Amino acid sequence: MITDLRPLARKAKQKNYAIPAFNVSNLEMVQAVIRAAVAEKSPVIVQTSEGALSYAGDTTLYQIIKTTAETLGRSVPVVIHLDHGKHLKTVRRCLALGYTSVHMDASALSYQRNIALTQQAVIAAKKTKSSVQGELGAIFGQEGLLQLKKGFDYTAMMTDSTQAKNFVNKTGIDTLAISVGTIHGSFKGIERIDLARIRQIAKEVNLPLVLHGGSGNDPKVLQQAIKEGICIINIDTDLRLALLAGLRRALGNKMLARHIDPRAIFNASYAPMQAKAQAIMKLFGSSHQA
Ligand code: G3H
Ligand code: ZN
Repeated sequence: MITDLRPLARKAKQKNYAIPAFNVSNLEMVQAVIRAAVAEKSPVIVQTSEGALSYAGDTTLYQIIKTTAETLGRSVPVVIHLDHGKHLKTVRRCLALGYTSVHMDASALSYQRNIALTQQAVIAAKKTKSSVQGELGAIFGQEGLLQLKKGFDYTAMMTDSTQAKNFVNKTGIDTLAISVGTIHGSFKGIERIDLARIRQIAKEVNLPLVLHGGSGNDPKVLQQAIKEGICIINIDTDLRLALLAGLRRALGNKMLARHIDPRAIFNASYAPMQAKAQAIMKLFGSSHQA
């Protein structure tokens, strides 16, 4: 059922596990991740980027998630979250639709502008009793990215713990997305998560911390990041790769080729996505925490 993120994130922080936040953009992705949460008895964050909303239509995609959460997912807590809301207009629109959590991502702007826009989002979210994720520090790459330019070093753009404490106090956010070495996209072995930086931020900021760019990281390092204070981990590329693997297998299947039935093709994407999402819930320790 649709739930407020805050108690779920507080419980994850207390019990040292992370809630997976999956990016979705169609029916099959929504149903696969919610089926996975039911199978694992896990809380789940189902999130949409601004790109997903323009692809599927904001009301349509929201209603698909809401209805699935209230039917297939009625036995588990489901948070409907706007991911990387770059525009206050989109944040307000999603709150009006019924999103229980929104991410005001003004991290690419100046520090003062980031504070000002995030404060506006917090004021708007108070009206609908929704939670707000702020972001400090740049998280590079983009979802679904599989290649990186050589010599990628952006330590200077990572989140500073003292500034994070000031940002949280000034904005009143509920969760904080931090930049600690992950990159949007999946790059085996390239991303280096700065565990000491997470530990320091967690010490100064008493809020659930969000790790973006979850795909392609060493599972052991992700588990250490959870121990250091990460309570929510965003996953997009890994789910897309699972979807594509299912579709490729189906499209190469000679028996299916004799039928012109899109349901058989799209149906083949469910199992790999659900299996991937369940494995992630086990890895993050959110299984049996619903
Ligand atoms: O906001 C979405 C996530 O940060 C996606 O990152 O594609 O590396 O899983 P990922
Ligand atoms: Zn992200």
